[in-house]
Amino acid sequence: MTNPLLMILDRMTEARVTVVGDVMLDRYWYGGVERISPEAPVPVVAVGRAEERPGGAANVAQNIAGLGARCRLIGLCGDDAAADSLATLLERSGVGHRLIRDPLVNTTVKLRVVSRNQQLIRIDFETQATADGCRNLVAAYREGLGDAGAVVVSDYGKGGLNHVRDIVAFGRKAGLPVVVDPKGDDYRPYHGATLITPNRKEFEQVAGRFRDEDELERKARGLIGELALDALLVTRREEGMTLFERDGARTHVPARAHEVYDVTGAGDTVIAMVGAALAVRASLLQAIHIANAAAGIVVGHLGAVAVPRDELAAALALEEGS
Ligand SMILES: Nc1ncnc2c1ncn2[C@@H]1O[C@H](COP(=O)(O)OP(=O)(O)OP(=O)(O)O)[C@@H](O)[C@H]1O
Ligand SMILES: [Mg+2]
Repeated sequence: MTNPLLMILDRMTEARVTVVGDVMLDRYWYGGVERISPEAPVPVVAVGRAEERPGGAANVAQNIAGLGARCRLIGLCGDDAAADSLATLLERSGVGHRLIRDPLVNTTVKLRVVSRNQQLIRIDFETQATADGCRNLVAAYREGLGDAGAVVVSDYGKGGLNHVRDIVAFGRKAGLPVVVDPKGDDYRPYHGATLITPNRKEFEQVAGRFRDEDELERKARGLIGELALDALLVTRREEGMTLFERDGARTHVPARAHEVYDVTGAGDTVIAMVGAALAVRASLLQAIHIANAAAGIVVGHLGAVAVPRDELAAALALEEGS
């Protein structure tokens, strides 16, 4: 085997990655619509099938475990049935988890009602994290870091990462790469991270709109300087992704998808692959090539799913390597 990306994928089975962030449960109810409700002008769905999947940081974790890597997930949830489901799903996917159950909050659940392949409504159950919950999260992270090779922070803006500044700093002090999938309009708490991976819209929310590649680069370099990052990756949907490194390098990787079915969770796959690759000391450039290939695969699957390892290996076998 001489393809360097395949060699890294092979080494990734030895990776140990800690994922910390906003965990969720994605719930799907499928059924037919036969009539309109007599109570209101809305369709009545007769639910015939239900499905549940790990979402948010839990989806990031299942992507890492799906590679055969060891993944430990730390997140806040309620003390409820949704948390039980999430725990069971994570165990089934081989994710080691420390779900911190806070009786004062609900587990974040995103329920989609789907009829004939069409989503009729999405119903979100969420409550803001409590101060105690946030403190317990950081404590569990510090205790559990152990022999991790990298830290992935998956921020969905649910408030659980109140102390993200400490999380980043602690990981970096331990000598680990810390990669962050950011949210919101203030990135200062991510100061000192190895890499952040905003999508285009998120990037523009903090750095302002860019009209061309030069303007994107100027703004990206501004953010790298301000936040003392090693690098910044802007994911750009069908355009692919662009990596800016502190030393001045800029690399654009075009999107790789053959067919696009559902882009949900592509960002989760990107951060998961980058974290697992850096954990086995791949370069940032190698990491984003693997991440891009993996993202191109998951957009061909319905819902947020873990990238199948054999499909990723097949895709990487076609790459030049770097
Ligand atoms: N429509 C698409 N066609 C081809 N590739 C895509 C498409 N959408 C996403 N991708 C791939 O997935 C990567 C990440 O997608 P995107 O920029 O949408 O991230 P995101 O908005 O964070 O995703 P998420 O919905 O999970 O939050 C892209 O860089 C690209 O490689
Ligand atoms: Mg995203």
